[in-house]
Amino acid sequence: MCGIVGYIGKKNSLPILIKGLKRLEYRGYDSAGVAYIKDNNIKIVKTVGKINNLDKLLNYNDESFIGIGHTRWATHGSVDTTNSHPHQAGSITIVHNGILENYQELKEILTNKGYTFKSDTDTEVLCAYIDYEYNQTKNILDALNNCMKVFEGSYATAIMVKDIPNKLFVMKKDSPLVIGIGEQENYIASDISAYADETSAYIILEDMEIGQIEKDNISIYKNKKEIKYNIEQVEQDAFDSDKNNYEHYMLKEISEQENLMDKLNNIYLKNLDKIMDISKYNKIHIIGCGTAYHAGMIGKYLIENYSDFEVNTYIASEYRYQKIFADDKTLVIAASQSGETADTLACIKKVKKYGCKTLGIVNVKNSSIARAVDEVIYTEAGQEVAVASTKAYSSQVYIFSLLALKLGITKGLINKNEINKEYEKLPSYIKELTNYDYEDIISKIWQAKDVFYLGRGIDYISMLEGSLKLKEISYVHSEAYQAGELKHGTISLIEKDTPIIALISDETIALKTISNIKEVKARGAYVVLLIKEDLNINIDKECYDKIIEINATDNLLQPILNVIPLQLIAYNIAKKRGCDIDKPRNLAKSVTVE
Ligand code: AGP
Ligand code: GLU
Repeated sequence: MCGIVGYIGKKNSLPILIKGLKRLEYRGYDSAGVAYIKDNNIKIVKTVGKINNLDKLLNYNDESFIGIGHTRWATHGSVDTTNSHPHQAGSITIVHNGILENYQELKEILTNKGYTFKSDTDTEVLCAYIDYEYNQTKNILDALNNCMKVFEGSYATAIMVKDIPNKLFVMKKDSPLVIGIGEQENYIASDISAYADETSAYIILEDMEIGQIEKDNISIYKNKKEIKYNIEQVEQDAFDSDKNNYEHYMLKEISEQENLMDKLNNIYLKNLDKIMDISKYNKIHIIGCGTAYHAGMIGKYLIENYSDFEVNTYIASEYRYQKIFADDKTLVIAASQSGETADTLACIKKVKKYGCKTLGIVNVKNSSIARAVDEVIYTEAGQEVAVASTKAYSSQVYIFSLLALKLGITKGLINKNEINKEYEKLPSYIKELTNYDYEDIISKIWQAKDVFYLGRGIDYISMLEGSLKLKEISYVHSEAYQAGELKHGTISLIEKDTPIIALISDETIALKTISNIKEVKARGAYVVLLIKEDLNINIDKECYDKIIEINATDNLLQPILNVIPLQLIAYNIAKKRGCDIDKPRNLAKSVTVE
């Protein structure tokens, strides 16, 4: 969600800004813009749509050695050029990620002082307020410091000041921002993937810090005092944003799950010491959003069923505001691919006040959540570019299985040697499921208006994930239902040829699900049955139209396999419908606003 870039140095800034914005495209956006200084004048170019639209408007002969850029994901004001960033007021030009919550109150104050506004954004108010403070204090660092005391909400901002043409300024709270360090040049970005090729070291700006960036110097301030900062090293192999020969990043990332399981076996299965011992807590809460929440729900089932410990799961955007029952004997596990999801991060901050211990299951190294938690287990999935999360999900489920495994071994409930063999077989099973030909099924359901996903217990959770995948990338309405619940209302929507995708991998309740499938079949539904291959039950051929057998593994690992066909069904439907699979409309990869 939103990308910020900035450059100051010896090279022409425009190509560098555009390159950085393109690398941040994966975050999701609806408009883009840049501001740069040419002959002591600040020039702004911005437009709606893709970065290529912006690119066409730029004059690369305009040599400039300092600039800022932005991809906007609109929160306040419609998607139009006026509302796009950068915004300008008086001497100040800014790009901003986040939401200034008290912008209306500040807008009124500024209007009374004679400021006028062109856009509907909160950002223009933020910009004008900085200008107001700068006029009062005549010192930009003091002005930014004062602003931070007044601003409520979240902001990562890059700032240019008209009469200070050789410096960039940044400040942040709750939205991410890093400063890439070069030689006689420095960079600003929402995350270091924007400039991983150009820099080998970077600084992570922390909340309430202000940065002053010159081409050969970086100073960080907090509460008006200059402070020391840590320098992080860029892990080059974490940024594999090459699509190779795949048509879409999503397909590439689905296929990578095979090798990822091998990688995770080598890192974690062979060394369970790297997996946190969760046995000493009285309560476990798991939080996350979207797909990460689904992985957390699978985690709950695994820990409860295989290591006999009650777990509660919560949607982070709810948990952050609801009454919670937690104390210093509570472990709060946050699952997040990006490590930047604003709601999940806010939950971590909230539970620290209760004295809880926090564990992050995070993909992006050094991300805000990875740094905010007491302990982190990295999912090691490599960069995930497609907005629809696939390999990050299976790696999160994998880590949850190991948390359950370790606890189960401690309690004498699981035999490690037996299960090790199953972990080792995961890559070959995933390969088979990835190579399966789904065309028959796709050709029958790709034009459907609605698709229903059915399952019971842990299978229902996999279906929640399958349904989310389908709706986010194909724009087909779909819902996942606990198979037994459909008849309490929603079955009224089932008519002839309504597609139903049903999953049965839990033998103990398989017959119950089959009865529910018969109920929809009797009403004319088109049923695709995904079933674990060695289930010891008789299935009436009349109750499905297509069947996919999923390789059987230990129940602790079965959800990792069950999701593969669901990912591929969603992918292929979206492809047939001609959707922008890697960047679905309205969505952002990294949701840094609440
Ligand atoms: C997944 O396909 C979604 N795009 C989305 O639900 C995502 O999982 C969610 O926004 C959480 O992101 P995170 O894992 O980076 O915290
Ligand atoms: N709230 C700002 C806007 O709507 C910034 C959104 C963003 O983070 O891109 O313009």
